[in-house]
Amino acid sequence: MTAAYHARYPAIRLRRTRSTPWSRALHRETTLTPADLIWPLFVTDGVGVEQPVSSLPGVSRWSLDGIAARAKEAVNLGIPCLALFPHTQAERRSADGREALNPDNLMCSAIRAIRDAVGQQIGVLTDVALDPYTSHGQDGLIDDAGYVLNDATVEMLVGQSLNQAEAGADIIAPSDMMDGRVGIIREALENAGHINVQIMSYAAKYASAFYGPFRDAVGSRGLLKGDKQTYQMDPANSEEALREVALDLAEGADSVMVKPGLPYLDIVRRVKERFAVPVFAYQVSGEYAMIEAAVAAGTADRDAIVLETLTAFKRAGCSGVLTYHAAHVARLLNG
Ligand code: PBG
Repeated sequence: MTAAYHARYPAIRLRRTRSTPWSRALHRETTLTPADLIWPLFVTDGVGVEQPVSSLPGVSRWSLDGIAARAKEAVNLGIPCLALFPHTQAERRSADGREALNPDNLMCSAIRAIRDAVGQQIGVLTDVALDPYTSHGQDGLIDDAGYVLNDATVEMLVGQSLNQAEAGADIIAPSDMMDGRVGIIREALENAGHINVQIMSYAAKYASAFYGPFRDAVGSRGLLKGDKQTYQMDPANSEEALREVALDLAEGADSVMVKPGLPYLDIVRRVKERFAVPVFAYQVSGEYAMIEAAVAAGTADRDAIVLETLTAFKRAGCSGVLTYHAAHVARLLNG
């Protein structure tokens, strides 16, 4: 290129392509559709029960009939996948979280209720971790000092994964950050014939202050003593996230997740650039609550801010996002 053709202002005006709606649409690099959304749902006991979660305004726990109704709603909205989390009654919790292995626990019953309602029209992603079932609120088995044991926990996670796969789960999502669990779960699924059950690993999950409302929703906040820093990652680290992702992929993860979402988009981008695999992010409960608090305070327009944040996940490289705003956003996108 000669200097004569080395265009500068005013030949180059980046505002030109922004000047009309049609031109902005034509030049848009990232699009958000309902197919990018995974909708997390909280399951509770009973019939006809809807329990609003006060720290997550607009989000409720639903009994099985309500879960089935949400599944139909999601199918109609074009949302491809639901993520399930159980609110386990205190009397079903124990130190070893053995309710996770009960074939009739809330999680398995919810999977079956969704199948009865919508068949295979939607994917069901199930969380694998013991915290909804333990009396101490940690994600694994603990020793006398309260340390979360890795290998004994992984054995439980294998049983939990098989239990969910038997009930019809499509995507097993280990969220506990134990070492080695993806490979051992994959092997167990293969041996049991669940060759098409996927694993979406919470590969880079941080010990975050953004999970508080979720712990209310599953009923573990009051139980949890201490924190999860011996297994979840230090928010200061990103090279370590790449090691976590590399290991989980080597062990057979089909896709990986980064969690929380917005404060960790740099991690999403690094993972996507390094590994070129499907990356998902979880816009977690504290992020949702912050947006809703801003809306309630009159300092943000919900629709605009939700669309902007979810578009940012796509721009950073996400294949999809777990968000409590999923149904609302899908309605917006569907007009
Ligand atoms: C636990 C789990 C957590 C979330 C998903 N799975 C909480 C935690 O690690 O304490 C958080 C999700 C959210 O905050 O929305 N295995």
